[in-house]
Amino acid sequence: MCGIVGYVGQQKAASIIVEALRRLEYRGYDSAGVAVLQDGGIAFAKKAGRVEVMAKVAAQRHFTGTTGIGHTRWATHGGVTDANAHPHISSDGKFALIHNGVIENYSQIKKFLLTKGYTFLSETDTEVLCNLVAYHYAKEIADNNGHNRLLESVRKALRHVEGTYGIAVLCVDFPGEMVAARKASPLILGVGDGEYLLASDASALISRTRNVVYLKDGELVHVTTANFSIITLDQADVSPVVDRITWSIADAELNGYGTFMEKEIFEQPQALENTMRGRFAEDGSTAQFGGLNLSAAEFRQVDRLAFCACGTAWHACLVAEHLIERFARLPVEVDYASEFRYRNSPLDRRTLFFVMSQSGETIDTLGALREAKRTGYRVLAINNVVGSSIAREADGGIYQHVGPEIGVASTKAFTSQLLLGAMVALYLGRLRDMSFNDGVQYVEALKGVPDLVRQILKGAPHIQAVAKRYAKATDFLFLGRLSLFPIALEGALKLKEISYIHAEGYPAAEIKHGPIALITDKCPSVFLVPKGEIFNKIVSSMQEIKARKGPVIAIATEGSELPPGLADEVIRIPDCHEAVLPIVASIPVQLLSYYIALERGCDVDKPRNLAKSVTVE
Ligand code: M6R
Repeated sequence: MCGIVGYVGQQKAASIIVEALRRLEYRGYDSAGVAVLQDGGIAFAKKAGRVEVMAKVAAQRHFTGTTGIGHTRWATHGGVTDANAHPHISSDGKFALIHNGVIENYSQIKKFLLTKGYTFLSETDTEVLCNLVAYHYAKEIADNNGHNRLLESVRKALRHVEGTYGIAVLCVDFPGEMVAARKASPLILGVGDGEYLLASDASALISRTRNVVYLKDGELVHVTTANFSIITLDQADVSPVVDRITWSIADAELNGYGTFMEKEIFEQPQALENTMRGRFAEDGSTAQFGGLNLSAAEFRQVDRLAFCACGTAWHACLVAEHLIERFARLPVEVDYASEFRYRNSPLDRRTLFFVMSQSGETIDTLGALREAKRTGYRVLAINNVVGSSIAREADGGIYQHVGPEIGVASTKAFTSQLLLGAMVALYLGRLRDMSFNDGVQYVEALKGVPDLVRQILKGAPHIQAVAKRYAKATDFLFLGRLSLFPIALEGALKLKEISYIHAEGYPAAEIKHGPIALITDKCPSVFLVPKGEIFNKIVSSMQEIKARKGPVIAIATEGSELPPGLADEVIRIPDCHEAVLPIVASIPVQLLSYYIALERGCDVDKPRNLAKSVTVE
């Protein structure tokens, strides 16, 4: 949710931090702030609004300090105000702290601190934590136990905290030092040339270094200008592992596109190629995955699958359910991760558990993974961000390899998840009763997806013209059946999140059970219309809408003959294998939402109230 940055080095920290915050802004964008240690004190600037608003204020203050922290906020506790923006400063003026997460027991701690004379300027849980560190620091001086006092006071404060956090802390008595810690909020230490950077994700630090240490839950890092060390909350030493980021700064830049969402839609052919690369068996009849840590014999023992995810990734799981049941004949259950955690769902002993998450940091999905592991299940993850919490905690998994996804609305990560779901269905199908020939055809179809997507993307101007005609609608329905029902859900979600138009997704035949009441000439329906056995049924649903004067937009496969005059708009997609149809149908749905949002003047990369990675429950 929020984005965190820290810098310890020889350069002026503020400008490096502001630049990093610009790259992190997709994580939260309602306020921002920066603080540096200089002249024996803390100099800071923080403002409600986008990073640019705060950057202007910071530029006027001519910060010179070489140790600093910065934050971009997605509000949890307290409204969007300058006072609630981070960094927070302790009331004794000694500490500056930034935080991503939620301190659940903040009100008890606040009461206690008030009795000790600490005062508060904001409504946030973060300011409480900052003062708790100050309180322990004051005690630590008295105890004088020989440890680094900054590190010790942060560690002791965190032992009293319930909830989640990624934090970074500065203290005026320790120029050139910073302490950071995490529990369920991502934190990465970048090891640069004579400098260290801290960030919630790699995009913030990749311009300065590709060498990173992924901090784990319950770890604290103490950074100085000369080195860093990691300990646990229980004071055990940790040997750091330095990893190398494989993607480059160019992958996190616009490269000539107007928005990240547009870029990510148009780079899908390449992204899908990257997802597939090296993942087909030599005989060309099945998929293969390197990191599942499960043998074919173990997969044969599985007689049920469970999937958990949130949002768009949950839609991808619904498609996987359809394809696995259809091609591998294994029952699949899909749950919202947030529901699964608290639902006490009975899982069979031979159930294989999957979680799907682009970021690998979604707290609900991480919670579901932990709950499943706690009850003894083996959990596999489909995930994009290398080194994420979910990737590290899963028993095995498949990386999506689509590079950083920065637009808040997921696009390339979604189609890559659809592709991997289709590949898992193939793999399981070939372990059961899918024939060699059917496997070969399936593989050929998957290999052809990038070209099909390229073909659809060429039709973007037509979709943009359609979008212009419907951009003023206040309600939309998205309707599809079977494997395209989740794409209808995804279409509705995409449109809602970036254009703020009310939209609902339904199985097409369900409209007569209620949603048809919404139909007027002002409520367009987007139908996903594949050729095949349900074609006539979908046409009947379209007739029902048309009879009530509802505008009809058909996304239909080539060769399907729609009755003349039934659809007001037709967007064609290539006829293709069932396993790739959901991917192919997703592209016009993404483009339609994108162009409608653009037409309405919305900020598609940073839609209101949203953040890219949801790390609070
Ligand atoms: O990173 P994750 O895949 O776990 O994220 C899950 C959802 O928060 C995410 O898909 C969200 O729904 C997107 N904004 C959809 O575009």
